Amino acid sequence: MARLKIKEILKKGETGSEVVAKGWVRTKRGSKNVNFIALNDGSTIHNLQVVVDVAIFDEELLHKITTGAAIAVTGELVESAGSGQSVELNAKSIDLLGAADPDKYPIQPKKHSLEFLRENAHLRFRTNTFSAVFRIRHAMAFAIHKYFNDKGFNYLHTPIVTASDAEGAGQMFRVSTLDAKNPPLTEEGGVDFSQDFFGKATNLTVSGQLEGELGALALGEIYTFGPTFRAENSNTTRHLAEFWMIEPEMAFYDLKDNMDLAEEFLKYCIQYALDNCMDDLKFLADRLKQEEKNKPQDQRSMDLIEKLEFVLKNDFVRLPYTEAIDVLKNSKPYKKKKFQFPVDWGVDLQSEHERYLVEKHFKCPVILTDYPKDIKAFYMKQNDDGKTVGAMDVLFPGIGEIIGGSQREENLEKLTTRMDEMGIPTEEMWWYLDTRRFGSVVHSGFGLGFERLMLFVTGMGNIRDVIAFPRTPKNAEF
Ligand code: 4AD
Ligand code: MG
Repeated sequence: MARLKIKEILKKGETGSEVVAKGWVRTKRGSKNVNFIALNDGSTIHNLQVVVDVAIFDEELLHKITTGAAIAVTGELVESAGSGQSVELNAKSIDLLGAADPDKYPIQPKKHSLEFLRENAHLRFRTNTFSAVFRIRHAMAFAIHKYFNDKGFNYLHTPIVTASDAEGAGQMFRVSTLDAKNPPLTEEGGVDFSQDFFGKATNLTVSGQLEGELGALALGEIYTFGPTFRAENSNTTRHLAEFWMIEPEMAFYDLKDNMDLAEEFLKYCIQYALDNCMDDLKFLADRLKQEEKNKPQDQRSMDLIEKLEFVLKNDFVRLPYTEAIDVLKNSKPYKKKKFQFPVDWGVDLQSEHERYLVEKHFKCPVILTDYPKDIKAFYMKQNDDGKTVGAMDVLFPGIGEIIGGSQREENLEKLTTRMDEMGIPTEEMWWYLDTRRFGSVVHSGFGLGFERLMLFVTGMGNIRDVIAFPRTPKNAEF
């Protein structure tokens, strides 16, 4: 008999039919005469209740069916007496596929802290919380590909190893096969990267954008979806050293088109989660509600599902940076000197400022535009005022920046002048500048941090809990 997934059994299993279910034991409880096994196979947040008549099974076998063990059960589906499920499985035979020594298996049927589960990230998929998070993560990745495919964008695989620094931030991981203890040296005494694997110094990419632009200026609309790497030493709940980024890049799009796309895209992903992941979202919403109970009333956040629906229903506020500075300077926390970081035209906004704008002032997602050119990357479209660039950051409640993007400077002379000012070598970037030499057009794009989107959709509080194996400073276990 073929195995049925538990999701299918619970959805359309007919009472009286015989089925085979396989999965991992979440709990086993019961009395001398009857045992109840909660079985989960990862296909759904819900467990299948297996009812075991103790009299017809070997005692030793039942003894080995403990939390974490893998079993196969054949039996008859019957109407469930318990609440919360339609059917349960009356076991006729049970195979122990893999035992899990209860003295050693770390994931016990009790509430484990997220910190403990991070240390056991290899097994945390077996908890309700993490199985829900990773099913949603899969659904979001699928939704993103579907969204762009349906709109006629081409998925472009930009390189992971690169010799350029797209963001000009200089916080990159070196890729090298040179002997770290004894590298070849140049006459000046520096490391001679001409003898390295690629014949030049290379790094893990911080962004696929520059190569993405090359694709967009031929294919029209492209997107990348891949891992990116940043060696910044920021130990926060919103930063990873290895994270996944989605970067659409579109020819003939100006800043407004770019904002429209970003807003439509984010709403599509959120709608997709509501349409396809409701069981998991409900579980996470309840989990969050339990946690919030310990907080004072005024610090409790909105229900997760209400929050997602709220973002769908409302237009994002669009506001130039200069006006945002005015809002901040007129704010209560500014006047009462509650902000830790300064607010002045020209400074990069800190997360406390972003969160004030989104959570307190506008109470809605905000797209900030036209930032001072000195705090943004070299490739952004220079505005006529000579001071600002056509940048756009999308700010989300509880997250801060979820998207960063811009219209791109398409004028060769303006672009190279800016690169010279910022000390970016134009010779090495000849291939990028060729797009401005040959058939240059207005174009725009943005980058969505996939784990930031995951934080928002799942309501999880730490970015390490929405990626399978987080990479952060001093941490690359698993
Ligand atoms: O704002 P960023 O640095 O923009 C770029 O890399 C552009 N090249 C994108 C583009 O226009 N094609 O990063 C984009 C997004 C941020 O808004 C944030 O969501 C996420 O990537 N991000 C991170 N996520 C997790 N950990 C980090 N260390 C991140 N740094 C950026
Ligand atoms: Mg940014």
